[in-house]
Amino acid sequence: MPPLPSRLIFSLLLLFGHSSLVASGLFCRNLPGDPNFPSLSTWDAFNASVDGRLLSVVPSAKFCHELPAGQCNEDMWESTEFRADIPGAMDNTNWEQGNVPVYAVNATEVSHIQLGVKFASEHNLRIAVKASGHDFLGRSTAKGSLLLWTHHLQNITFTDSFVVGGKNLGSAMTVGSGVPANTLYEATKQVGKFFVGPNTATAVPAGGYVQGAGHSAFSTSLGLGADNALEFEIVIANGTLLKVNEVENSDLFFALRGGGAGSWGVVISATLQTFPTFTAVNHNIEFLITTNESAQALAEIHARHIFDWTPVGAGQYFSFFFGGSLGNAMTVSTFFPNMTEAQANASMKPFLDDVVAANLNVSVLELDVSTMSANDFMFSADDQFGINDILGSRLIPMEAYRTNVEAIGQGIKELLELGVPEILGHNLIGGKVAENADIGNAVNPKWRTAQTHLIATATWPDSVSPAGVEAIKQQMTHQLVPILVKMTNETDSGAYSNEADVREPDFQTTFFGINYPKLKSIKEKYDPNGLFIVQAGVGSEDWDTAGVCHIN
Ligand SMILES: Cc1cc2nc3c(=O)[nH]c(=O)nc-3n(C[C@H](O)[C@H](O)[C@H](O)COP(=O)(O)OP(=O)(O)OC[C@H]3O[C@@H](n4cnc5c(N)ncnc54)[C@H](O)[C@@H]3O)c2cc1C
Ligand SMILES: *[C@@H]1O[C@H](CO)[C@@H](O)[C@H](O)[C@H]1NC(C)=O
Ligand SMILES: *[C@@H]1O[C@H](CO)[C@@H](O)[C@H](O)[C@H]1NC(C)=O
Ligand SMILES: *[C@@H]1O[C@H](CO)[C@@H](O)[C@H](O)[C@H]1NC(C)=O
Ligand SMILES: *[C@@H]1O[C@H](CO)[C@@H](O)[C@H](O)[C@H]1NC(C)=O
Ligand SMILES: *[C@@H]1O[C@H](CO)[C@@H](O)[C@H](O)[C@H]1NC(C)=O
Ligand SMILES: *[C@@H]1O[C@H](CO)[C@@H](O)[C@H](O)[C@H]1NC(C)=O
Ligand SMILES: *[C@@H]1O[C@H](CO)[C@@H](O)[C@H](O)[C@H]1NC(C)=O
Ligand SMILES: *[C@@H]1O[C@H](CO)[C@@H](O)[C@H](O)[C@H]1NC(C)=O
Ligand SMILES: *[C@@H]1O[C@H](CO)[C@@H](O)[C@H](O)[C@H]1NC(C)=O
Repeated sequence: MPPLPSRLIFSLLLLFGHSSLVASGLFCRNLPGDPNFPSLSTWDAFNASVDGRLLSVVPSAKFCHELPAGQCNEDMWESTEFRADIPGAMDNTNWEQGNVPVYAVNATEVSHIQLGVKFASEHNLRIAVKASGHDFLGRSTAKGSLLLWTHHLQNITFTDSFVVGGKNLGSAMTVGSGVPANTLYEATKQVGKFFVGPNTATAVPAGGYVQGAGHSAFSTSLGLGADNALEFEIVIANGTLLKVNEVENSDLFFALRGGGAGSWGVVISATLQTFPTFTAVNHNIEFLITTNESAQALAEIHARHIFDWTPVGAGQYFSFFFGGSLGNAMTVSTFFPNMTEAQANASMKPFLDDVVAANLNVSVLELDVSTMSANDFMFSADDQFGINDILGSRLIPMEAYRTNVEAIGQGIKELLELGVPEILGHNLIGGKVAENADIGNAVNPKWRTAQTHLIATATWPDSVSPAGVEAIKQQMTHQLVPILVKMTNETDSGAYSNEADVREPDFQTTFFGINYPKLKSIKEKYDPNGLFIVQAGVGSEDWDTAGVCHIN
């Protein structure tokens, strides 16, 4: 007799521990080794039904190791382009540890996804859905699961008039849920267009990006990714392919635009608004800061100027880098659409003048100003990952920047003193993002009143022990995120679900705000049996953290 699966013991414990639970509500997905896990011949038959596109999945380290010598060197290991083609790979390798799917469907057609969903449903399997493996919360991989891999759904079509319910919504593109951002910046450039997408090579706009909200350097002018999604094609839990837009399945349309990645079904394609392309000026400055006190003062001066760039439609990435006794660095990279370099310089001047006037222990390491097409600025040929990395974040309200700038400077100093390697700031909210408050999608309303999205990071080498890794994760949740919360001066602060701490204790409020009850009821309608469960996603509170046992 095989040993009693630990999940079963877990369920029994729950059953005895909580007498109010309905026994029939407790069940676990079948994992390899479980008596009801499909046999090899059942998998073979399934494989044949998906045109032989079933793959065995291994962690990226094993995948690399098994390649002929020289075909997986250090550069390749770190390349997100290289990792994107490996079914078991995540860009942040910490998510792979003990946590990879067994099989993947390498889908090229809708039917492959439909058959995968039906097979998982029939055999009570855990499903994982992945486009690129970028996810900072590890939601696109799951131990013992069947992975529905959309990387090879690569269709792109453009139209000048996308019509929904008889209404012409103008210029748009329909893109497969495998098409990476860099491909789309090039494809749109070819036709004189631009779109709201991520600032990275391989993240997939029609994948997790748009479902989470999606910010861009040009969001201040053009809104969020989710604000610019016009339609989706999605395979839902019962295997049906649905068209989802403002008039058809409009409740699901609401949810797919900000209601959280991976909770609704398998997106096949998304139709995204396109805009006439434009040139932009990037003003990029890097400061060396030799004391922690000066980092605080510089952060506070920056906070006092945070609204300088929103009225001209500019978006800004700003970061603090910890350098120990060598000092810290701050970068401020601002993207001005449709402006001249002289105008961009003039817009930066009040901030830079104040930095000089404060006479801090700060020097300018680098200052460059350049002009390019917006597409070229957003295009990235590749990114370097293949590391252990977690994040914690908060949306910092406009109100905090009006009334609480000292606390913002103080918070940056506290994070640097704790040795946080990078603090990543996004000053690209406000403007169109605030105006889009009435758009009627599931984007957490906290986005509409925020000015920045601030991230604290933690990384560690593979040599750190499991207990050491756990301590780093605990510090993120219980020490670093609370510092960000203090900066918001709110008791119900919000965070961007795609770039956040997966262990957020009240993720329902933090990620989804007042939309949570509505999202939960949409989830129950389209996915009543919880086939699409991701950690910290809608409905995940009814499951254990592995998404394997239903506990409610
Ligand atoms: C280097 C880097 C830069 C980034 N830059 C930005 C940025 O500029 N702006 C921004 O807003 N975000 C940015 N992000 C965050 C990014 O939006 C998220 O990582 C997002 O989840 C990526 O989506 P993906 O589908 O490519 O990733 P994956 O890891 O493949 O999937 C992420 C989530 O989406 C789900 N999902 C994927 N495909 C599908 C599908 N076809 N149907 C249903 N669910 C699916 C997965 O289940 C998972 O829950 C960045 C991330 C990285 C690593
Ligand atoms: C699925 O079938 C193809 C084609 O017959 C085969 O190459 C592949 O190894 C099979 N996959 C698995 C997981 O057995
Ligand atoms: C997945 O399918 C695509 C398209 O057929 C193919 O090019 C690719 O090599 C396959 N990937 C793997 C890992 O087998
Ligand atoms: C890709 O486009 C082709 C041609 O329009 C279409 O036949 C096919 O169904 C599309 N594939 C997917 C996965 O949407
Ligand atoms: C900032 O504080 C940390 C923690 O005390 C310290 O390790 C670091 O050296 C300080 N940085 C500078 C530039 O003094
Ligand atoms: C840039 O200018 C053009 C022409 O005036 C305008 O149509 C477009 O909306 C502007 N784009 C942005 C992002 O401001
Ligand atoms: C803008 O500022 C940069 C850096 O100071 C300078 O090199 C450049 O000449 C300025 N450009 C214009 C048009 O003023
Ligand atoms: C700059 O550094 C010097 C030497 O460490 C220190 O005495 C001075 O107070 C610092 N000034 C500011 C504004 O932090
Ligand atoms: C926080 O907000 C409260 C109420 O909105 C305000 O009175 C208070 O001054 C703020 N706290 C700080 C530290 O600014
Ligand atoms: C699948 O679910 C959708 C949405 O609830 C429903 O409209 C449709 O009838 C269902 N299809 C089948 C075959 O059950």
